[in-house]
Amino acid sequence: MRVELPEPSTEERAHSERLAALIRAEIARAGGVLDFARYMELALYAPGLGYYSAGTTKFGAAGDFVTAPELGFVFARCLARALLPELRDGGEIVELGPGSGALAAELLLELERLGALPARYRLLERSADLRARQRETLHRRCAHLLDRIAWLDAPPVAPWRGALVANEVIDALPVRAFAWRDEGLFARAVGVDDGGNFIWREVEAEPDLQAAFARVIQPSALSPQPYLSEICPLLDPWLAEVTRSLELGSAWFVDYGYAHGEYYAAARHTGTLRCHYRHRAHDDPLILPGLQDITAWVDFDALARAGEAAGLSVAAHTTQAQFLIANGLDEVFAQGYAEAADEAARYALAQQVKRLTLPGEMGEKFRVMVLRR
Ligand SMILES: C[S@@+](CC[C@H](N)C(=O)[O-])C[C@H]1O[C@@H](n2cnc3c(N)ncnc32)[C@H](O)[C@@H]1O
Repeated sequence: MRVELPEPSTEERAHSERLAALIRAEIARAGGVLDFARYMELALYAPGLGYYSAGTTKFGAAGDFVTAPELGFVFARCLARALLPELRDGGEIVELGPGSGALAAELLLELERLGALPARYRLLERSADLRARQRETLHRRCAHLLDRIAWLDAPPVAPWRGALVANEVIDALPVRAFAWRDEGLFARAVGVDDGGNFIWREVEAEPDLQAAFARVIQPSALSPQPYLSEICPLLDPWLAEVTRSLELGSAWFVDYGYAHGEYYAAARHTGTLRCHYRHRAHDDPLILPGLQDITAWVDFDALARAGEAAGLSVAAHTTQAQFLIANGLDEVFAQGYAEAADEAARYALAQQVKRLTLPGEMGEKFRVMVLRR
């Protein structure tokens, strides 16, 4: 996939070069190749330098991509309706990877309108820069609710009840990249060429990758060869950790992805890695480290299995369009239409609903899975 990307500024180039130097040093220490999952971890989260750790804009029109809560209020207001049963009897909300804080602000305001404010809304965010951004959003949009809001450094330890929410978080978990050929399984790792650029290097798969692959993939189904794709061994331990203290309630995951059979279908033999830089999507994670988002699509069957292994059961699995329709999209649209100040606002609202629900937009690529305990 060849996509023309906008030229980064001099400062952005310098920032990316600082991160690239750090990654090159780690590659040298590792003997010339670094597993892709570690490269992705550093590119996204290296302290002060990674995409999510440094101070770039990321979300919204001035950033690199737009998520459902960034489009406007519709997604959050429907989600608020879906969460109502979880918030009875003192239920709380814990949000993972809250981005700009837009979802938290709108959810809280809508739950207040619906007379169902949670006792506490906690945000788990590993990036200091994003935390500051969330604080600013919540201060600006719902300062009167700040006494219910708290930030977490790690998943809650004490047992709690209510709803865990994660929009577009699983796609940001580092994945292992692999190649399946007649000769067997290879790890796709990252090396450095003579000019200092990052390049793909295939190395023999070590026992951890072999085991993760054998657990979830039917090699006979992988064609054509070489079949390049991803697997997320981190998913099981991560899910177990973030849901461990959820005593009663549900976990809501929204992300782009497929069921297992579609994920590893012939049409996707070049994998599911997607990068976002200033609203251009492409599939080369080895360029612009620190300046672009790197994601992999989610295998929703793997998520269901990880949930079951963590003692949760699948309560729902549907497309984002169906989810919104089933949770008051009509009512939210009518309310927004009535509140709109002018024709431009009504038009923007209609556009928002189209983006969220049309099959060619986010309606079917995005799926919602609810895991319950
Ligand atoms: C694509 S952004 C989505 C942001 C936001 N949820 C939204 O919908 O706009 C991914 C978010 O996941 C966070 N994240 C990534 N890995 C995480 C982890 N292991 N635990 C919690 N948050 C994580 C990132 O810091 C970032 O806030």
